[in-house]
Amino acid sequence: MRNVEVIKLEEKFDKDSLFDGSLVSFQVSDRKLDCFKRIYSIYGAKKNTIRGNHSHKHLNQFLICIYGAIKIKLFDGYEHQEFTLNKSNIVLYVGPMIWRTMEWIEDDSVLLVIASEEFDESDYIRNYDVFLRIIHND
Ligand code: TYD
Repeated sequence: MRNVEVIKLEEKFDKDSLFDGSLVSFQVSDRKLDCFKRIYSIYGAKKNTIRGNHSHKHLNQFLICIYGAIKIKLFDGYEHQEFTLNKSNIVLYVGPMIWRTMEWIEDDSVLLVIASEEFDESDYIRNYDVFLRIIHND
């Protein structure tokens, strides 16, 4: 699907460390992250919570579920795709003109979002019919 990509970050294990766990990093040089202007997170939502239901006209975003599990449903006007994000090393890139819905699979899952622009309500398309009309040039 255009404007959508799954990026798997390399997990760093330190076998000599006394500590358990892994570390992942997503660096500016990886994906032109230098042009990103905003980071936000969505937390405190219970299982079955549905959020999103909108598209953006120009915004580029990277979505990371840093705790729990969140299903991301995407639609580019032609094709549907679904991803379950449940690990910090998976980054989902979602570009412009993709209708997205997020469904909380586990209580208190946390979605971290890196966004290319500052918040701008006029960049949102919140009406599904308007989204379809723009995509299909009606
Ligand atoms: P919205 O993007 O609609 O959230 P979701 O897609 O998760 O349901 O944003 C919810 C509200 O928060 C909306 O009133 C806009 C506001 N908001 C900001 O003020 N700043 C931000 O960076 C974001 C992402 C949203």
